[in-house]
Amino acid sequence: MKAIRGAITLNGDTEKEVRENVKFLLGEIVSANKLIAEDIICIMFSNTSDIRSFYPAKAAREAGFFNCALYSSLEPEINGSLPYCIRVMILAEITAKPKHIYLKGASDLRKDITQKLNIAIDGPAGSGKSTVSKLISSYFDILYLDTGAMYRACALACINEGVECTNESEVEKIAKKTDITVKYIDGTQRTFLNGKDVSEEIRTPKVSMSASAVAAHACIRNKMVELQRIIAKQNSCVLDGRDIGTNVLPDAKFKFFLTASPEVRAERRLEENKEKGYIQPFEEVLAEIKTRDVQDSTRKIAPLQKAEDAIEIVTDSLSAKEVASFICNEIQRNT
Ligand code: DC
Repeated sequence: MKAIRGAITLNGDTEKEVRENVKFLLGEIVSANKLIAEDIICIMFSNTSDIRSFYPAKAAREAGFFNCALYSSLEPEINGSLPYCIRVMILAEITAKPKHIYLKGASDLRKDITQKLNIAIDGPAGSGKSTVSKLISSYFDILYLDTGAMYRACALACINEGVECTNESEVEKIAKKTDITVKYIDGTQRTFLNGKDVSEEIRTPKVSMSASAVAAHACIRNKMVELQRIIAKQNSCVLDGRDIGTNVLPDAKFKFFLTASPEVRAERRLEENKEKGYIQPFEEVLAEIKTRDVQDSTRKIAPLQKAEDAIEIVTDSLSAKEVASFICNEIQRNT
């Protein structure tokens, strides 16, 4: 008899997530270990305490594992543990060496048998970072962390409190009492300011300008960078921002720097804004883009800069799909 281990993380606590991920994990273990139903004596699950919606053992039964004993248990709350994680141990009558399977964020638990992927995508506003990053994250089935959203949430906190984003000492007071968190709901990042989901509210042109100003302060950057590193450490993910390759993850294996002319970037931003209902003249958007370029690239701390070892991609005449497919190919060639 052998013990086979495995684990997987969910994007959130829903019945659907539990069902789909348990089925996926068990399917991968069965196929990697060439198991047949008669081999399996029992399947034991444990899950982190943030999963409350459904029993993994029940999901296993639903997935067709009804000839063996099934068991679920809740793990203690351990500081810094991987969120939304289901672990499994299968006892099976096999003679071959067991192949343990760690999927999605859970691959972080066994670096010896899995490889974690951190991809840094930097560049100025409108260079296509977020669209490209979303495509990459869905291709590799890893998280997408929009770090700009975190600075935007900080800016919104200042705006809500009537604080000028350039006033460092006032901003620091806000930073001290402000809680910014990021959660993944059905695989999509939601950004929370003091517990409130502000993912849509932070997309206004006013917040864009304020985010650039607020991001210049060490009190804000230190807090945000710490959070970004924790997420990147626990998960395979693609991060987009201004300083990912130079500062947040200087050791990331894959770094890309996207650029485009200010005019092309302003045109893209104009279209995005239009879709969100913010109508602005082209000249105004262009001026904002240029101002942000100057602010972001001339600030003292972690300015917008291409990391020496980043691959630069000029995106003026490329679609987001073309850029993403170039990046995905590049990563696959070098993994
Ligand atoms: O990517 P974005 O437009 O959502 O970012 C908003 C502002 O946040 C941007 O002008 C500069 C700042 N920012 C930063 O300083 N560092 C990052 N890693 C991401 C964004």
